[in-house]
Amino acid sequence: MQSAPRSAVIILAAGLGKRMCSRIPKVLHTIGGQPLLFHILDRVLEVAPNAPVSIVTGYAREEVEARVRSNPDYAKLLITFVHQAEQKGTGHAARCAMDSEWGVDVVKKRLAVLVLPGDLPLIPTELVRQMLMDLRTKTAVRLLTCELTDPTGYGRIVRRGKRGAVLRIAEEKDATARERSIREVGTSIYLFHAAFLKAGLHKITTKNAQGEYYLTDLVAQASRSKGGVDVLTWDKPEDLRGVNDPWELAQAGKLLNVRSMIRWSREGVRFVDPSTSWVDVHVKLAADVEIQPGVILSGRSEIGTGAIIKAGSIIEDSVVGPGASIGPYAHLRPGSVVGEKAKIGNFVELKKAKIGATTSVAHLSYIGDAEVGERVNIGCGFITCNFDGRVIDGERKHRTVIEDDVFLGSDCQTIAPVRVGRGAYVASGSTITEDVEPDALAIARSRQVNKPGYARKLRSGE
Ligand code: UD1
Ligand code: CA
Repeated sequence: MQSAPRSAVIILAAGLGKRMCSRIPKVLHTIGGQPLLFHILDRVLEVAPNAPVSIVTGYAREEVEARVRSNPDYAKLLITFVHQAEQKGTGHAARCAMDSEWGVDVVKKRLAVLVLPGDLPLIPTELVRQMLMDLRTKTAVRLLTCELTDPTGYGRIVRRGKRGAVLRIAEEKDATARERSIREVGTSIYLFHAAFLKAGLHKITTKNAQGEYYLTDLVAQASRSKGGVDVLTWDKPEDLRGVNDPWELAQAGKLLNVRSMIRWSREGVRFVDPSTSWVDVHVKLAADVEIQPGVILSGRSEIGTGAIIKAGSIIEDSVVGPGASIGPYAHLRPGSVVGEKAKIGNFVELKKAKIGATTSVAHLSYIGDAEVGERVNIGCGFITCNFDGRVIDGERKHRTVIEDDVFLGSDCQTIAPVRVGRGAYVASGSTITEDVEPDALAIARSRQVNKPGYARKLRSGE
């Protein structure tokens, strides 16, 4: 049974993200194979899976909500979408959540409310865990701060004296020159007592340089309260990299990728050249996998132990069995499954194809919507013609089945739907349009005719 939640979560995700210069809402831009917002939701899933979560959406809200709903992982979370019709600032966004039915319930249950911005995809699980530690009853807010070498753009933490209590946060555009020299910044991550948050949000105004409701203004309110502000200072600034423009998106993506590779290396995965390999956050790798330069592993791909992924190969949402060899320059498109010790060679493309154990597809083939058995040998340049313009039973693409122990000569095509029976032999250069029964030999090419002396005749022009 799940224990009663002690905290709730608000995720701020209503902004367009002007500086991204894109039609796509900022929180849906992807790094590590998924939208920025999903990285935050993954942390919530790990640390507070039974907390009520409110996602504040506004710009392109249908799109954002549909994306979250379409991910089965988040069906386990208690998500309520709250609409912020006009983006009047972070304080206004939080207020939309607290004034909604969701917020009323959270106040009634006296939960602690964790506020997370949608654009900090690199925050580690441990940071969220520490933020969620019990907040003393008297203390209105826990604030996460961080020291940056370049604090430009962030809200500065103004303290009494140098290391004294936190007094307030000065936004870049409102800060005095002296305040701008402060390197300790706010991160937009807070833990509030629900009642304080709700009441505080009703007191803030738009009297500032941007004419917005600043959530940061609640820090000044809390500093005047009895319990003051509880500060958690995070000493790894790279964990708190925000994404505000495309270059920051690229930087965050790179950092996330390096982290993935470090994590897998510690479990026995060997990256020959980490500077050119990409591994999405939900990829799973076993020990003793070797990843050569220029490899891209994306989506929910899984690579079994001892497999080798050779240079330039791309694997999307596919499974590679133990000891298999992929590439160089192979492309496994979504839904492919490669069996144990199978070999998928250079310039081979698979799509929704299941390849049996120890089968070899060594060079220059396309296999799509197909099931290939075990110990099959597929020569060079084989093509499953899975689409011929016909729609059969509502399917545009038709299935090809190649049973165990088949030998397919080079340069063959099979026109789907079609089945090549177990142990059959298909001669090179055949175009197979009809099923081949087990153990049969199929030859589907025109017979060769040799005309003695004819070449010489042509050359002499007789
Ligand atoms: C904010 C903080 C700043 C802090 C920085 C850390 C304020 C006023 N400033 O600035 O002190 O250093 O984060 O990253 O809080 N959003 C809404 N609705 C709105 C406005 C924003 O949902 O009306 C969402 C955005 O989608 C985004 C998040 O709130 O996910 C933060 O907004 P953003 O405009 O990026 O704030 P910053 O300028 O970065
Ligand atoms: Ca931001």
